[in-house]
Amino acid sequence: VLRHWDKVRTIRVALLGLGTVGGGFVRLVEREHARIRDRIGLEIEIAAILVRDREKDRGDVDRSLITTTAVDVIDAGCDVVVELVGGVHCAGAYVRRAINNGSHVVTANKALLAATGRELFDAASANGVQIGFEASVCGGVPVVRALRRGLAGDSLESITGILNGTSNYVLSRMEDGLPFADAVKLAQEHGFAEAHPTLDLSGEDAAQKLEILTSLGFDSEVVSRSVHGIEWIDVDDVARARRRGNVFRQVAEARRVAGGVALTVAARELPLAHPLASVRDENNGVVFRGNAVGEVMLTGRGAGSLPTAAAVLSDVIEIGSA
Ligand SMILES: NC(=O)c1ccc[n+]([C@@H]2O[C@H](COP(=O)([O-])OP(=O)(O)OC[C@H]3O[C@@H](n4cnc5c(N)ncnc54)[C@H](OP(=O)(O)O)[C@@H]3O)[C@@H](O)[C@H]2O)c1
Repeated sequence: VLRHWDKVRTIRVALLGLGTVGGGFVRLVEREHARIRDRIGLEIEIAAILVRDREKDRGDVDRSLITTTAVDVIDAGCDVVVELVGGVHCAGAYVRRAINNGSHVVTANKALLAATGRELFDAASANGVQIGFEASVCGGVPVVRALRRGLAGDSLESITGILNGTSNYVLSRMEDGLPFADAVKLAQEHGFAEAHPTLDLSGEDAAQKLEILTSLGFDSEVVSRSVHGIEWIDVDDVARARRRGNVFRQVAEARRVAGGVALTVAARELPLAHPLASVRDENNGVVFRGNAVGEVMLTGRGAGSLPTAAAVLSDVIEIGSA
């Protein structure tokens, strides 16, 4: 086993939110912390946890760590503040306070980054702290790290992906013969779609994620943006495509064009041999096309408690190991 450390370091984490992802994060830290200590030399200690409702059942999470007073958690002097409350207003205020305190931040909050990312990154850089956001795009699939590190030596030609698990689940069920409305209902029953999944089905969620990936992968300006949803597709369209040997996918693409980068999100008919045709159900998949490396594809679970928590934990580890 290769070791890059000689003394175990402790990293103290303040956790904001103990819902789907926050709860998964606590479970994962419990499950993985001995391996992380032995392999990477990092002891991860969750020092305080913020929730909204103190009375809720929290399973076997240590109740003495839980509080409903945000400043008690954010000002606890932790190395990293992990923001998993969601939304823009409270989450933004918490993250700003953490940054001003000199804590690093890890977040899964795409909406927050879409609304105020530039301001937050400027504040982080002024305060000499990092913001980790691997979990905000494609949940457990490490697309952010692939772009920032793995592909940093190459020039990108395009990023093409299935970035929205809800739409992909709906289209997959339509391939099984379910009408659009029933497929959406099933997605909601299985927890893959929110009560009002407009952002997902309209393509806007995929577009926001594509914008984050574009800002990481290209130096050029976005010169055009075209976003269409999947609502116009009916089950007969899907069946006809199938008879032609094709499948429908909601494809988000950033492509280098004259003068910059063009963004498109649209339902596309793909031949079965296309790498994204095999990405089914609630999964995500991204194909990066690099000038030197050619096509690189990542695929896997784009949401869910443990997959998303794994991405959050990877950011905590990266910050702790820096
Ligand atoms: N779920 C996923 O699969 C997934 C995937 C990728 C990214 N994300 C992102 O991860 C973030 C968290 O999502 P989630 O699904 O884990 O949400 P969630 O299940 O609704 O959990 C939110 C948690 O934050 C707490 N909270 C909410 N508002 C608060 C406030 N103002 N002050 C204090 N605590 C507050 C809640 O407290 P109570 O428990 O007391 O209600 C709850 O514990 C979101 O930004 C989401 O977009 C989620």
